[in-house]
Amino acid sequence: MVPEIQNLLHEARRFPPTQEFAAQANASSELYEQASAGREEFWADQARQLLHWHTPFTTTLDWSNPPFAKWFDDGQLNVAYNCLDRHVLAGLGDRVALHWEGEPGDTRTVTYAELTAEVKRTANLLVSLGITAGDRVAIYLPMIPEAVVAMLAVARIGAVHSVVFGGFSASSLRSRIDDANAKVVITADGGWRKGKVMPLKPAVDAALAQGGPENPSSVEHVLVVKRGDNEVEWTSGRDLWWHEEVPAMDAEHEAQPFAAEHPLFILYTSGTTGSPKGILHTSGGYLTQVAFTHRNVFDLKAETDVFWCTADIGWVTGHSYVVYGPLANGATQVLYEGTPDVPHPGRWWELIEKYKVTTLYTAPTAIRSFMKAGREIPLGFDLTSLRVLGSVGEPINPEAWIWYQEIIGGGLTPVVDTWWQTETGAIMISALAGVTTTKPGSAQVPIPGISVDVVSEAGQSRPKNSGGLLVVTEPWPAMLRGIWGDPERFKKTYWDQFEGKYFAGDGARLDRDGEVWVLGRVDDVMNVSGHRLSTAEIESALVSHHMVAEAAVVGAEDEATGQAVVAFVILKRSADTHDVASASDILRAHVAAEIGAIARPRSVFIVQELPKTRSGKIMRRLLRDVADGREVGDTSTLADTQVMQTISDTVR
Ligand code: WT7
Repeated sequence: MVPEIQNLLHEARRFPPTQEFAAQANASSELYEQASAGREEFWADQARQLLHWHTPFTTTLDWSNPPFAKWFDDGQLNVAYNCLDRHVLAGLGDRVALHWEGEPGDTRTVTYAELTAEVKRTANLLVSLGITAGDRVAIYLPMIPEAVVAMLAVARIGAVHSVVFGGFSASSLRSRIDDANAKVVITADGGWRKGKVMPLKPAVDAALAQGGPENPSSVEHVLVVKRGDNEVEWTSGRDLWWHEEVPAMDAEHEAQPFAAEHPLFILYTSGTTGSPKGILHTSGGYLTQVAFTHRNVFDLKAETDVFWCTADIGWVTGHSYVVYGPLANGATQVLYEGTPDVPHPGRWWELIEKYKVTTLYTAPTAIRSFMKAGREIPLGFDLTSLRVLGSVGEPINPEAWIWYQEIIGGGLTPVVDTWWQTETGAIMISALAGVTTTKPGSAQVPIPGISVDVVSEAGQSRPKNSGGLLVVTEPWPAMLRGIWGDPERFKKTYWDQFEGKYFAGDGARLDRDGEVWVLGRVDDVMNVSGHRLSTAEIESALVSHHMVAEAAVVGAEDEATGQAVVAFVILKRSADTHDVASASDILRAHVAAEIGAIARPRSVFIVQELPKTRSGKIMRRLLRDVADGREVGDTSTLADTQVMQTISDTVR
């Protein structure tokens, strides 16, 4: 299981920061020295410098009951106040918080003063709907300013948001609503995507109706933003229009302080087994680390920079680097509703030129698709405003890294490859722009105040120039505080493998300098376009179809998306022949309907048998070989050694 890819790292190119950049950088190598002199004191300093505390904390870390950490436990703050009010009070109310651009080309400019007022009104509305501190609110919205407003309004009153990506299906939405017992859902009629309105409200209606009247959901109200102008059905008493309710509310709302460990949000992510896990994040530590990393990794200059993180708010990157990090730092941002190639393939570059974006933070899958479309497209725009580029979500191959730096960055622009996870809450391993000599393809070094290691399966530290499993060895401020409603699963998933260490599920390699190269997941989790999907989740969607007897899913190599979902399915004998002919298409559509379009398999192969060990475990490694078109590896532990031959023949 430990990756031992010996000749992976012959990348010799190095890019030291230019003197000019280094001279003006926020960060310096002193940060590393300060952090290693006293990790906890370092984070306490950051928390004090970067945030406003209603009640200052006197304790930094309580790790007396691992793996349940408490950071800044006796301190109190309000997360929304930190992202809004204090900037307005400091005289920055007229600063643009959001340059929003809709996919059809409509725009809105939202200043900090306007954003603050809108959040206050929305907070008052939520209170009037009976939402109190600790209640859960589900958010199912497109990338419109109201998405940011909704998250901050929930946070402002101490409620807990659970943002569900707008691409997820009604049943994925319902299971998340049920797990968190959400009282309110905030959604829109629809949002623009790929030149069309993608309806959202109908999915909410379907989610809430699921299971029939005997199975009512916990939801009392649905608050609906009018965006798509698509027709929607209306349940009076339950459904409320945002544009009717929010403007009628008082624009004054005083932010109350909450404990540093007060829950801020739940975000569901795929794991190796069955249902998605509700990753729980809390307030003070999380906000400290997202603000710190946003400022120092990207060298944020709040007065002059225009920051653009292209992630959807439905993913953790959107939480930490669209909402909380940038707004805590008083940044000006671009928020874009649509897809990169609508109405033309240069849309992103057009936006960078238009808003003079200085910092672009995106995923390798996007970079690879731009590479494929050709450099002429970005070269047709003025991208000279860019001064920092970031990458996240999956390993970035050196070729894509160099293209990003040269074609998008125009040469010596620092590229920071940032490794982190939904669970880590904030960036953990990354170069610091202006400080680190960058190395294409490597996530490089833990940020100041973070300790990681690469270990063997027995938990032994691996030497330089060798591979193993990536672990975090010390608690960190933005760490997940648990899995919603399931403390045992939290311990088992992350802390049981290596005593006292957090196991991330990634394989990694240390190079000759001791820097980290993340190689990807070592468990049954796939990474498709920088999004995590579990094999188990898709398998259970497949077997929920009446035709399917058994299913095995693997992540196959894919040039565009990093990995692609490939399924091997055994049909029931009762599946009629008419169905069998188109079974593959039916099942691909079925998975998309059950989970969402991102989970739709690239291929579904109908097979007679699956490769299993004598104890009945499916050997996905062998199926991966088939999916990638490689020669099939060692089959000696199979119960039936013939089976792979049969499968290879079927697939070919
Ligand atoms: C998994 C976490 C972090 C926000 C987006 C994804 C992979 C993430 C990198 C990187 C190599 C990366 C890992 C990780 N990953 N960033 N810079 N280099 N791999 O969040 O959905 O929680 O997925 O994404 O495999 O475990 P996520």
